[in-house]
Amino acid sequence: MTPDLLELDRRHVWHPYTQHFDAPPPPLVTRAEGAYLYDARGRRILDAISSWWVTLHGHAHPAIATAVAKQAAVLEQVIFAGFTHEPAARLAQALVGVLPDGLSRVFFSDDGSTAVEVALKMALQYWEGRGERRPLIAALEHAYHGDTFGAMSASARGVFTAPFAPQLFEVARLPDPSEGGGGATLAALEQLLDRRGSEVAAVIVEPLLLGAGGMRVWEAETLRGIRDRTSAAGALLIADEVLTGFGRTGPAFACGGAGVEPDIMCLSKGLTGGFLPLGATVAREEVFAAFSSPDRRRTLFHGHSYTANPVACAAALASLALLDDASAESRRMIEATHRAQLARLATHPRVQRPRVIGTIAAFDLDAAPDYLNAAGRALGAFALERGVLLRPLGNVVYLLPPYCTTADDLRCAYEVIEQFLSESPA
Ligand SMILES: Cc1ncc(COP(=O)(O)O)c(C=O)c1O
Repeated sequence: MTPDLLELDRRHVWHPYTQHFDAPPPPLVTRAEGAYLYDARGRRILDAISSWWVTLHGHAHPAIATAVAKQAAVLEQVIFAGFTHEPAARLAQALVGVLPDGLSRVFFSDDGSTAVEVALKMALQYWEGRGERRPLIAALEHAYHGDTFGAMSASARGVFTAPFAPQLFEVARLPDPSEGGGGATLAALEQLLDRRGSEVAAVIVEPLLLGAGGMRVWEAETLRGIRDRTSAAGALLIADEVLTGFGRTGPAFACGGAGVEPDIMCLSKGLTGGFLPLGATVAREEVFAAFSSPDRRRTLFHGHSYTANPVACAAALASLALLDDASAESRRMIEATHRAQLARLATHPRVQRPRVIGTIAAFDLDAAPDYLNAAGRALGAFALERGVLLRPLGNVVYLLPPYCTTADDLRCAYEVIEQFLSESPA
């Protein structure tokens, strides 16, 4: 049975972010539990990247699985324009209860990219509705906000976006705040707001961690500086917490931990605990109010077929309930283990710029800083053979495990990395 399925996959499936020219046959995953995936060959694989950063409490968590099954048997889907339902109303209330103050209106979509698209459209149309011409978005160098066109436009230009360069809209680009303490970012933002402040609709940031752009950690002080300056200029601040939300950086939300209240926040990935696709763009009441008008042209004309899918909302509610004190304790343990293990690893000459933020640890391999660099892929293949799922971003190696991961599990992952380093000197 196994070879047939792989053959079907080989013949008919087009995988994401995969060069099929020389991609090895993928593991055929048959089940998952806690921090582990199990494949058809009977292998157990530690999911050290939470399956593209989505799995929060662990795979197949029984509380979420039960909530999903219960909801699916009652109401699986209903159009969300002109209709509502209990899981969406309860989830909106629950999110508003845990998000930084001021965020009060939840717009549901499907994933991180759509949450960002909605945020950008909200910001641009907000100003239009107020009769001000503010067509400019500002974004950070090394940003990653998703793969749809608006999200790609706000993201750094690079190998992911190159084929579409002519179709992307220009944004004002601010220096990477992870370099040089963030002073250059704030100075550039000040200059932009001085010169073109009346044109800036919004500044979009990944708070405290530029994720897919290289797991670059930056200071809360800089984030507060960005908030102060955008507030003073009247520009909106969009916090893309698609990766950092739901405890990844330690506190429930990176903005909350930094004491920053954005105008719009994007959520996805961990929102459902990693069970189902769901996005949410949460706005302040003033933003929402600007769309409310007898003039129907001021409607936010955006929606997706599965907007606020009841099963996904039920998964998210169950996942939020698990984000409790015990989860916070597990996250602290993961952070402490990262710090201890990474400090050891950092003595290796190939390990550069070790960094930890909450449950995420990263370092650079001393290879060319390029997403297409083969060094990271070699480490990924080496680790997979030894039962650990890692997926370096070019030469950037990171661990981003589910919160149920034990210290022993994590130590095993670090041992595999150490073995790779000792067997493949630069
Ligand atoms: C910060 C951030 N925003 C948006 C996205 C896009 O999310 P999705 O892949 O669910 O479209 C990602 C995905 O990695 C992300 O890290």
